[in-house]
Amino acid sequence: MRNEYLPKQAVIEKIVDETADVKTFTLRVKDKSGDLLKYKPGQFMMLSLPGYGEAPFTFASSPAKSSRFQISVKKIGSLTGAMHNLKVKDTVGARGPYGNTFPLDKMKKRDLLFVAGGIGMAPLRPVIQQVFKNRKSYGRVEIVYGARTPKDMIYTDEVKSWRDEADTDIHLTVDVPDESWGGACGVVCVLFPKIKINPQTSIAVLCGPPLMIKFAIFDMLKLRFKEENIYASLERYMKCGIGKCGHCYVKGKYVCTDGPNFSYAEMKKLGIAS
Ligand SMILES: Cc1cc2nc3c(=O)[nH]c(=O)nc-3n(C[C@H](O)[C@H](O)[C@H](O)COP(=O)(O)OP(=O)(O)OC[C@H]3O[C@@H](n4cnc5c(N)ncnc54)[C@H](O)[C@@H]3O)c2cc1C
Ligand code: FES
Repeated sequence: MRNEYLPKQAVIEKIVDETADVKTFTLRVKDKSGDLLKYKPGQFMMLSLPGYGEAPFTFASSPAKSSRFQISVKKIGSLTGAMHNLKVKDTVGARGPYGNTFPLDKMKKRDLLFVAGGIGMAPLRPVIQQVFKNRKSYGRVEIVYGARTPKDMIYTDEVKSWRDEADTDIHLTVDVPDESWGGACGVVCVLFPKIKINPQTSIAVLCGPPLMIKFAIFDMLKLRFKEENIYASLERYMKCGIGKCGHCYVKGKYVCTDGPNFSYAEMKKLGIAS
């Protein structure tokens, strides 16, 4: 009988220090059979490390035909701390993919607004990569990215390269600037007046700290984005990732299987809207 909790072995091929507390790991799955590599943007996997347990991490790279994928890990506790001590050629366990995806079909032909805070850029990166891979299928793209300081921004070279994409604008802001900073200061919402899309027909996708999501959605609604066109990726405590343990249960839904990506209209029904 198939054991749903059995992880695949994945070897660390590359580690990039994004910031003082975020590393991006390129993992190669040893055995390509099964569903792990068939993930879609917005989905997550459960990563395990003997002696430290298991935790959910979003796929941070666009699905590819190779046996590799990336995750970006912020060091906040025991498992993530142990991950940060790993080296190239070390092995971790990985099972998935789990959760729902962002509505890439619904996004077709529409103008898009992506709003990320800090490591919240990780779940948005595969969606943004998919949009740019199929650039003609989508309308104008506006990306708003905020971090605490310039040194807390991740994927900095790639984010800069997105400026070269057609009909695309990138807006950056930090809470605490340094002498090198030439961008805006303050929360992501300070950049909304620069956005050149029609809110009533556009789709917005957000990920970041809960307070950022709360204030950004509040301002988007004032700009007249539609509730059903605002999507956010929610983080909840998770244990199994497959709708069995009940850790992530909210009003008839399991965030791990029905989410973690919800429209604001759905969040309101679940009573988890700001
Ligand atoms: C669907 C999903 C996708 C995620 N994707 C990523 C990702 O791509 N990159 C990333 O770095 N992290 C991601 N996370 C968060 C990640 O799972 C936690 O950081 C991780 O479980 C922490 O494990 P730890 O053992 O290091 O921390 P612990 O030692 O267990 O906890 C350290 C502290 O962090 C708090 N904490 C732990 N987990 C969570 C949580 N889920 N929500 C709020 N507070 C928490 C604890 O209460 C404690 O205060 C995701 C979470 C979910 C639910
Ligand atoms: S994490 Fe177990 S039911 Fe969602």
